[in-house]
Order: sequence, then structure tokens, then C-alpha cells
Amino acid sequence: MLAASVTSFSPDSPLDGLEVGDAPEPVDREHWVTVDVRAASLNHHDLWSLRGVGLRRQQLPMVLGTDAAGVAPDGTEVVVHGVIGADGHGVGPRERRTLLSEHYPGTLAERVAVPAANLIPKPAGLSFEEAACLPVSWLTAYSMLFTAGGLAPGDSVLIQGAGGGVSTAAVLLGVAAGLEVFVTSRSEEKRERALSLGVAAALPPGERLPHRVDVVLESVGQATWGHSVRSVRPGGTITVCGATSGDASPAELTRLFFQEIRVQGVTMGSRDDLAALVNFVSRHDVKPLIDSDHRLRDTSEAMARLLTGTQFGKVVITT
Ligand SMILES: NC(=O)c1ccc[n+]([C@@H]2O[C@H](COP(=O)([O-])OP(=O)(O)OC[C@H]3O[C@@H](n4cnc5c(N)ncnc54)[C@H](OP(=O)(O)O)[C@@H]3O)[C@@H](O)[C@H]2O)c1
Repeated sequence: MLAASVTSFSPDSPLDGLEVGDAPEPVDREHWVTVDVRAASLNHHDLWSLRGVGLRRQQLPMVLGTDAAGVAPDGTEVVVHGVIGADGHGVGPRERRTLLSEHYPGTLAERVAVPAANLIPKPAGLSFEEAACLPVSWLTAYSMLFTAGGLAPGDSVLIQGAGGGVSTAAVLLGVAAGLEVFVTSRSEEKRERALSLGVAAALPPGERLPHRVDVVLESVGQATWGHSVRSVRPGGTITVCGATSGDASPAELTRLFFQEIRVQGVTMGSRDDLAALVNFVSRHDVKPLIDSDHRLRDTSEAMARLLTGTQFGKVVITT
């Protein structure tokens, strides 16, 4: 089958180790099913894998891709939860938690095998392309806002880096939930696009907000951390899921303890959280924002778009 794999690591030039070509068919395992992938979306995780983060050399080649929507063997249209081993279904209780493409082959392929328990029916109102955006970026944004952030209608939130997959998901979910949403972005064009999605204000990185917010969503890291700490209200929460620009430094510990700020790490969410997200988007008629759609054989071109950071929304691959 056709698949996009990492064949070597290249921290400075990650696309060098990407190969689209023939890969082995998925292996049959008890309680696992093989899904015909119709669409998958790219995540920054794929770039980290190409850079050699989270994978060992002896695991190569490894099929990339962490989320997908497709068709199960019984003909059901499904969304694939990409976390394996979190609850033991289909792998046994001792299996450590991994994401597809970290231990088992990923979703940037014509077919992918996953535990049957990882499948969730695809909502009829979403295309395969839209549904493929949900299991990683959208689930992470949902967890950051509502589970870790505990936000309720009328609360305020700052989302750093408006254009990313996680950030655009958080903007659309936050606006639908009645939050007062602020964003920052390096690009004026992206700030304007965020305004058109209903945010209260879109600011250049580091600019002071009209008031401090209940929760900050931090995925950028070093480039925005200081601003995040200064923008959250005393007793508020910063939810952190990533550090695209590098690890935060300095941590600003004095401000953290004096203002009693809570810092909460987030890594995606459970299968039940994904089911709740699917219900939320169906009920509120929220559609994932797709930046661009590429064929599997053109994964290199799609990955280049993610690498340049020019995207606004999700970069999607169709098989
Ligand atoms: N923990 C988890 O479960 C989880 C899940 C998903 C993602 N993540 C992590 O979260 C981060 C974002 O993921 P993503 O998929 O949303 O990535 P993405 O689509 O590539 O978005 C990255 C965004 O970061 C913003 N950014 C702002 N300043 C930056 C700078 N100095 N350098 C680079 N980027 C900058 C950019 O927004 P502007 O151009 O608008 O400024 C860019 O759009 C990644 O590090 C990823 O690994 C973690």
C-alpha cells in the first residue's frame, strides 16, 4: 500500500527523511481492525518525528500520521482515536501510552490498524477531511479549553499563535461555547482571519490585552511564554500542550507563585473525550477549518506548508 514514512532523522531539514512509497500492509491482531483511510491530517507531531523526536533509529522506516477518518471493515464511517494503550483496550493493561506512528504504524497510509475500541462513528455532517482533523489538534484544544481549563460561557481565554491546527480549533470551539476569545499571531493576515471567525481581539505577539484572562492556551512555548504569564489573571490557568518555538525560559516562577497561577499540561484526551468533542461539533454545527487538502503522494508538499508555518487551519491528506 502507499504510505508516507520517516526513513531517516534530520533535525534541521526534516523533509529530507520523508519518503512516500510502498509500505507493508497492516498486521492483524486480536481486537484490532484495519480501517480504509479516506483522510488524515498533518500535525506538528509529524515534523517532530522527522526530526527524530520520540522515535529510535531502529524503528525506521515508520509510517507517519496520528489521526484519520475512514471506513471500518463493516462499512461504518469512523473517526480514529490515535492514542494506543491509554485504557488497555486491544493492547492489555501494561502497554504504555503511545500515539499512532510512535510504536505502531500511523495513518498517512491507505490503511491503518487500530484497536476496535479506538473507533468512533463519524458524524454525518462532517466530510472525511473535516472528521480527520478531530483526533489530535481538535481533541487537544477541547481538553485545554474545557477539561484542563474548566472554561464556561462568558469566561475569557487567550490563544497564542492564531494560525496553528490546535489554535484554530480552540478559536472555533471557544467562539461556539460563548467564550471571550483573544488571539495573538505574528501575521497580520492571520489576525484578520481570526477576527472573521468571531474573536474579540487579535493582537501581535506580546501586546497587552484589554484585560487579563481566565485561561491562556499555550502551544508556542519560548516565543510567547512570558506574555502568557503576564496575561492570565491571578488564580487563572495556563494550559500547555506544546513548545513549537522551544522550551520556555525563564519560567517566571515569582509571578507564578505570587499570582497563584496554575500551569496544567495537556496531551490530547481519552476516547470518551473524543466522543464528547464529536457530539459538541455536531450539536453546534462547528466545522474544522481546513487550510489545504493534498493527495497522499504529495505529502512532502503538504508537510512543507506545515514547516513554513504559513497555514491557517489544518493541512489535510486524502488517499
Ligand atoms: N500535547 C499534545 O497532545 C499536542 C497535541 C497537538 C499539538 N501539540 C503541540 O502543539 C504545538 C502546535 O501544534 P499544531 O499542530 O497546532 O502546530 P502548527 O499547526 O504547526 O502551528 C504552530 C503555530 O505556532 C505559532 N507560532 C507563534 N510563534 C511562533 C514561533 N516563534 N515559531 C513557530 N511557531 C510559532 C504559529 O502561529 P502564527 O503563525 O499565527 O503566529 C503557528 O501557526 C506543536 O508544538 C505540537 O507538537 C501537542
